[in-house]
Amino acid sequence: MTGGPPCRLGPDDAAAFRALRLEALQRHPEVFAADFAEEAARPLDWFAERLAANEVFATAGPDGALLGMAGLMRHATAKLRHKAVLWGVYVREEARGTGLGPALVGAALAAARGSIEEVRLTVTAGNEAAIRLYEGFGFRAYGLEERALRVAGRDYDDVLMALRLG
Ligand SMILES: CC(C)(COP(=O)(O)OP(=O)(O)OC[C@H]1O[C@@H](n2cnc3c(N)ncnc32)[C@H](O)[C@@H]1OP(=O)(O)O)[C@@H](O)C(=O)NCCC(=O)NCCS
Repeated sequence: MTGGPPCRLGPDDAAAFRALRLEALQRHPEVFAADFAEEAARPLDWFAERLAANEVFATAGPDGALLGMAGLMRHATAKLRHKAVLWGVYVREEARGTGLGPALVGAALAAARGSIEEVRLTVTAGNEAAIRLYEGFGFRAYGLEERALRVAGRDYDDVLMALRLG
């Protein structure tokens, strides 16, 4: 999987997924709810299981390392099955501004279309690049969770966003 449109990762991509995900958590602690140290302590199998349980779309660079990702988590239970969560959106610094972010989000939304009526996400208030990216697909803010994250003693609010597909 090199360049081209985003592809869905499978359990065999766990090592590459782990490397990209840990870079995201380490470099941007205030934009992801998951914690770098906690996730870095997880075994490789845990990342493989996440790739089986979620739809994670990614694009690789010429050296095979992943340049960016976007995850889609479907709810399994009957009353929540019409919704999914977009999570883990990340583009490595050298690949930003190239259209990769929109390509990854677009791939996750294309997978959701037809079976999911509403996609939701949370984004840290003030993360303008991410908010612009989501608004470009029609996501709209429907709420604000104050003090959603506490990182190194500082609190951050989360904007709750939703996109109707159905
Ligand atoms: C958010 C992110 C995925 C965007 O990826 P990208 O490939 O750089 O996406 P784009 O270049 O298309 O930028 C998205 C939009 O934000 C705008 N933008 C980029 N940087 C910006 C900034 N610093 N301030 C305001 N807007 C910005 C772009 O112009 C674009 O808007 P447009 O479509 O109206 O032109 C990327 O910046 C990233 O990985 N950031 C760190 C992790 C993160 O915040 N993830 C989101 C978690 S919810």
